[in-house]
Amino acid sequence: MKKMMLLLAGLLTSAAVWAQEPVQKTFWDDPVNHPSAPLYAVLTFVLIGVVLVLLVAIVLLRAFNVLVEQAEKDKAKALGVPYVPRPSFWSSLKQKLNNSVPIEHEQDIDMGHSFDGIRELDNHLPPWWKWLFIGTIGWAAIYVVVFHFSATLPLSIEEYQNEVAAAELAKQRLLASQPEAVIDVEKLEYNADAAILKKGQQIFEGNCVACHRKDGGGNTIGPNLTDTYWLHGNGIKNIYTTVNGGFVEKGMPAWGKALSPTEVRDVTFFVFSLQGTNPPNAKAPQGELVEPVAPQTDSVAVRASL
Ligand code: HEC
Repeated sequence: MKKMMLLLAGLLTSAAVWAQEPVQKTFWDDPVNHPSAPLYAVLTFVLIGVVLVLLVAIVLLRAFNVLVEQAEKDKAKALGVPYVPRPSFWSSLKQKLNNSVPIEHEQDIDMGHSFDGIRELDNHLPPWWKWLFIGTIGWAAIYVVVFHFSATLPLSIEEYQNEVAAAELAKQRLLASQPEAVIDVEKLEYNADAAILKKGQQIFEGNCVACHRKDGGGNTIGPNLTDTYWLHGNGIKNIYTTVNGGFVEKGMPAWGKALSPTEVRDVTFFVFSLQGTNPPNAKAPQGELVEPVAPQTDSVAVRASL
């Protein structure tokens, strides 16, 4: 019963949320401060009260039954007839639910088929089963009206779409609250800012070393990023575009999908600062020789301090 109440409460709140704004908090996000909390508290107390009253009633009823039973025993004794106890509530309920043929009347429904001593009886379906069956039909009718005709509650697909919409809205709000710097590649200018290069190095080490090696010297997968030969052009603009858009069919992922524009810029600056570092055992040049657009000499000093 209590579980049912909780379920009902959950249903009510989720239905309310569905009907109103998608990202409104549900009851369970903050039950104590929810506007309906007092109502639910009162309902819970009423429920506990009802359960207690029921318990007391059951105990009283049992005591009363003991008295009645004693009176019947005395009466039987006075009349000199054997005392036959009345069937208990449970056994009569069981009989009502199963409506089974008593064992002594089984021959009445024997169908005359016997196999290895197992006899076939012409039993009807037990009432509990029939009521369950009728119940499911009733439930289906309610379900169809609630979900398909009246649209009182959302279908699973709508629930999913609402959640996606709510998440999208939450995402947009979050993004709006922390605006991401928009990077204009055309105006992007390299500068050997220690903080940017440090961030860039971290991003490089976290994402790029598997294919370009820790020092950018390249390996069997990715090209050398420290030389003056470039497949997709040198210079901040080209490198930013390569990192951001990738060359997926050639095995270079599009990092703009995984990193924020600022992170792409930071790692681009770091890659740019690698030029001319001549790491040992670097991969042979690939692409075209591009006029060295070497970063300002100060980046060497900054790099040394990272
Ligand atoms: C899964 C392997 C892989 C990872 C990880 C990877 N790259 Fe690449 N990268 C490549 C391949 C392969 C190429 C060559 C693409 C081609 O042949 O066109 C490439 C090319 C490049 C180029 C162009 C080089 C040139 O000669 O023009 C740059 C710049 C670059 N990667 C930077 C990065 C950065 C920065 C990261 C990390 C954020 C990264 N890569 C992560 C595989 C990878």
